[in-house]
Amino acid sequence: MISKETIDEIYSAAQIEEVVADFVPLKRRGQNWVGVCPFHNDKNPSMYVSPRLGIFNCFVCHTGGNAVNFVMKHEQISYPEALRYLAKKYGINIVEDTRSEDLTDEEKLKESLLAVNKFAEQYFIDQLLHTEEGQSVGLSYFKERGFTQQTIEKFKLGYCPDGWDKFTQEALKNGYQLEHLIMTGLTKKAESGKVFDFYRGRVIFPIYDKLGKPVGFGGRILKKDEKIAKYFNSPESPIYHKSNVLYGFYQAQRTIKSKDNVYLVEGYTDVLSMVQAGIENVVATSGTAFPDGQIRLLKSKTNNVTVLRDGDRAGINAALKDINILLGNGFNVNVVMLPDGEDPDSFAQSHRDSEITDYLHDNADSFILFKAKVMAAEAGNDPAKRATMVKDIIQSIALIQDDITRQLYIKELAKLFGIEEKVLTVELRKNIVKTLKENAKKESGQEVEIHTPAGEKVSSNDTTITDIDPLTSIEEKIILLLLNYGAYEINAELDKKDGQIQCQQIRLDQYIFNEFTEEEISFKQPLFQKIYEEYAETATKVSLQDDIKKVFVNHENSVIQQYAIERLMEKEIGISPEWLRRFEVSTENVKNSCNKLNEEVYHCIMLFKYRIIEHYAKYLYEELGKEHSEKITNQILQKYDKLNKRESEIAKLINLVIVK
Ligand code: UTP
Ligand code: MN
Repeated sequence: MISKETIDEIYSAAQIEEVVADFVPLKRRGQNWVGVCPFHNDKNPSMYVSPRLGIFNCFVCHTGGNAVNFVMKHEQISYPEALRYLAKKYGINIVEDTRSEDLTDEEKLKESLLAVNKFAEQYFIDQLLHTEEGQSVGLSYFKERGFTQQTIEKFKLGYCPDGWDKFTQEALKNGYQLEHLIMTGLTKKAESGKVFDFYRGRVIFPIYDKLGKPVGFGGRILKKDEKIAKYFNSPESPIYHKSNVLYGFYQAQRTIKSKDNVYLVEGYTDVLSMVQAGIENVVATSGTAFPDGQIRLLKSKTNNVTVLRDGDRAGINAALKDINILLGNGFNVNVVMLPDGEDPDSFAQSHRDSEITDYLHDNADSFILFKAKVMAAEAGNDPAKRATMVKDIIQSIALIQDDITRQLYIKELAKLFGIEEKVLTVELRKNIVKTLKENAKKESGQEVEIHTPAGEKVSSNDTTITDIDPLTSIEEKIILLLLNYGAYEINAELDKKDGQIQCQQIRLDQYIFNEFTEEEISFKQPLFQKIYEEYAETATKVSLQDDIKKVFVNHENSVIQQYAIERLMEKEIGISPEWLRRFEVSTENVKNSCNKLNEEVYHCIMLFKYRIIEHYAKYLYEELGKEHSEKITNQILQKYDKLNKRESEIAKLINLVIVK
């Protein structure tokens, strides 16, 4: 466990704008920063970052939080992992408490499995580099394939000796449990009950997650044996989810970001040879169809992918499949085809670095050009076949979500085939509407009619509240006054018992507390009541308004936290309601705004009382319509009468025009 002191140090060191900027380009806007939100598909800068409050918030998908929250969400990692990430970024030394009893059983299991893998990783490296068998069998194989010492070290390649259970015995001797060895797939149990090393006699490629933890292994056989799979891979386990991992990503991520592009290749050896040739922004997709987890990994670093597949029919087919999935996920897609019979590994090993760089540069086709080249070869001059081909390409373009990008590709296609843009656009619209219908059908389970010629998707689950009842709306006003100005001094007119009016300097929150206690009133909305109670407690401990705000935007209750983030950020960037903005205290008119604040608070409290009475009166009125004994009915009538009087008194005080 990371100690409390370390956590505090991390929180105070982490600058939200620096943390976010590592993943999302930010532009300055006044005191704040804006960027394109990485948590939903967007092209507009809807995410705001406030250095003053130490928070970010997206006003479209309503994701918000502090620096730690951002790293957790963006990198899809746990709280302690995010803390470690930030500690590393800010050079903070992590002090651990030894209270491991705080870990859940699942976390404990994961730690144990990771410890096993770390042990195995080091064992395999030692075997490769420092044993006779490792050197003569494993190391010489890698050298034969052209991998340098530097590459071997960078990717921590290893070797598992060719015994029966040498590794397993060594692990057991070092105190690791058989159960864990089996869960990670390093050890297998034969039907006879005998255990053996899964990777025996194989060279090892450790597989890392994005934080550099060895979560799995690939092992290549060295003998020529047609019957046994060339590669063995770790099974899924609590620490290894294939859909969240890309081979080479850990080593490549910085370069992917700086080059703003990633090369997608097939396997381990492709990555190794490319990196060795100086192309470092490369990851292996290992034949998967891009599960969400992998898409997120790539998306966190770049929107541009270059598919680099084998130069044969299988490679072309793979690339065609990749294109549509990647386009549908908002990537700009280029494709490089290698000369027939080459894969990235063989190509990189047989050419000079400069030749490779030039080839990748000269042969990167947009997906349109690539598809056109592939299909033109088959279609020849047959007009029907050429039409099918154009339609096929338009289907791909229709997968792109951004309107402008789509239009640019239509332009390219029009030029390439000498077809009028208008004709292509009509075909494109047809495709978009078709996709929209399919998506809507998938979501709702029924046929949906869509009338959107422009292809804009209309969201049905708009979360903005349009019909807030008057009581809720005044309750919210009071909450916002507390969160924004609670610690400000106001001039309260205190109505004394004898009818004399007295002025008093008092903190705004104190004034509200007094009113609430005196009249024994509370909020009807549970969220607001909770915030109010928390506020009352907070105000006894911190007194600066910004510090109060920080308590709420970092609140452990995520509903309260997100509510505070959204409302306070609105004010930071000036989209809060006009009445709230009026009080912005500029130095030259402190007095003026303070007066307004007085009035507003007074007005709010009165209106709140009025709304409560109104609410209660409505309830009594309903009761009157029901069957009651005469005595009860009279009591209700009396109460109702009293409430009505009080209601109009307050209405008069605040000049409220009652519409009934
Ligand atoms: P290759 O068959 O080219 O592997 O597959 P290789 O090690 O380069 O073998 P040779 O020397 O050309 O015969 C390319 C990539 O596909 C993955 C590996 O990641 C490999 O790097 N692969 C291949 C597997 O995962 N499993 C397999 O059974 C085969
Ligand atoms: Mn190969």
